[in-house]
Amino acid sequence: MATSWNPSGWRDHHADQQPAWPDDAAANTVLKTLGTYPPLVFAGEARALQDSLAQVANGEAFLLQAGDCAESFDSFNATSIRERLKLILQMAVVLTYSAGVPVVKVGRIAGQFAKPRSSPTEMVDGVELASFRGHIVNDPAPSLEARTPDPQRMVAAYHQSASTLNLLRAFTKGGFADLNQVHAWNQQYVASSAEGARYEALARDIDRALRFMAACGLTTESVPHLHEVDFYTSHEALILGYEEALTRQDSLTGDWYDCSAHMLWIGERTRALDGAHIEFFRGIHNPIGCKVGPSMTPDEVVALCEALNPDRIPGRLTLITRMGADKVRDVLPPILAAVRDAGHPVVWTCDPMHGNTFTSQGGRKTRHFDAILEEIRGFFDAHHASGTWPGGVHVELTSDDVTECMGGAEQLLDSDLGLRYETICDPRLNGRQSLDLAFEVSALLRSGS
Ligand code: PEP
Ligand code: CO
Repeated sequence: MATSWNPSGWRDHHADQQPAWPDDAAANTVLKTLGTYPPLVFAGEARALQDSLAQVANGEAFLLQAGDCAESFDSFNATSIRERLKLILQMAVVLTYSAGVPVVKVGRIAGQFAKPRSSPTEMVDGVELASFRGHIVNDPAPSLEARTPDPQRMVAAYHQSASTLNLLRAFTKGGFADLNQVHAWNQQYVASSAEGARYEALARDIDRALRFMAACGLTTESVPHLHEVDFYTSHEALILGYEEALTRQDSLTGDWYDCSAHMLWIGERTRALDGAHIEFFRGIHNPIGCKVGPSMTPDEVVALCEALNPDRIPGRLTLITRMGADKVRDVLPPILAAVRDAGHPVVWTCDPMHGNTFTSQGGRKTRHFDAILEEIRGFFDAHHASGTWPGGVHVELTSDDVTECMGGAEQLLDSDLGLRYETICDPRLNGRQSLDLAFEVSALLRSGS
């Protein structure tokens, strides 16, 4: 592989899952305009995240990466941003307090608009339509017009990302994420549940600890860490034209950064070693992730590490394993051993969602809470056996009271899925299921120490 790199070099490689814009000239005009817009994040922030991820690679911190499968242009409002942030803060506080490890918080938010699809078209009522590829490309409504890719959507995605990020920065640095607010993060419908009560008990403990610390002279005013949180953004960098347009050279170091988000990842369907995505990713200096599915061999995973992190920089590369609850215990251990023996300092994180998706009897895409937990348990067991650090979880969730994943404390059944099935892509954990998951993961973290 050539070592010289530029942001458009990916164009000489095969790029899977790119939209077929009806008018290339119009799409190129949009990309040119995006190339003149301000960056959404700064290189220094991406470097700070990489430093935190280096701690995860080193077994000293835990990564919580969470958010929507696909963000929507239709639920773009302050409440939706605030509620998603609250849930991630709640989960992080559960993990930090009950497991005693620092938690690196990364949202699938402020840019998670593009979706890879298993088939370019689908049949709807006897008509063949282009598949929905995320709001940055088209709209899911079942009509020819809605499904036609529209490059102006990239501009809308940029602006929605900018506004979302602006509010996230205000919330996380402006007092909303102050630890004295732990009670306020508990949402009403969650608070009335068993998980909510468990969270309230933990929040009361934190209150007591804060009062004790204040009595010792350590207040949230004097200790900024108690008052603010570092919250980072991430998405699957699928549409390479869009990512290229937001890639800028850092004036401080001369290095290239994809300034559409702090962290970017490569999906399971676009990680071909000779493909355009790997070519693009190897040259950007953001911390990056790559999905690792069950078909990947240990040698392929090591080759991926060589391609994406030849200098073996800790925190640079996160491998997001998504094997399926029934495979993780067989497939993951040889991969962990190979990467460990090759000396690659990766962050290992578990996506327990994408290997456990199935179609329910009622015809809806779903996941069972038990399978999600089972994959996480298999992930922890494999890491304990290989002496590597189970560094994090990567989950699809929403704070809304949806009925998209089965099971959990509410025992959601197939027949309940229709009640509030609102996702525009994959099924997400709801607020209660997410909090429940955070408590379960904390227990696993504690039992390993
Ligand atoms: C996703 O994270 O939404 C996704 C499409 O995952 P994967 O690439 O692992 O299938
Ligand atoms: Co998904």
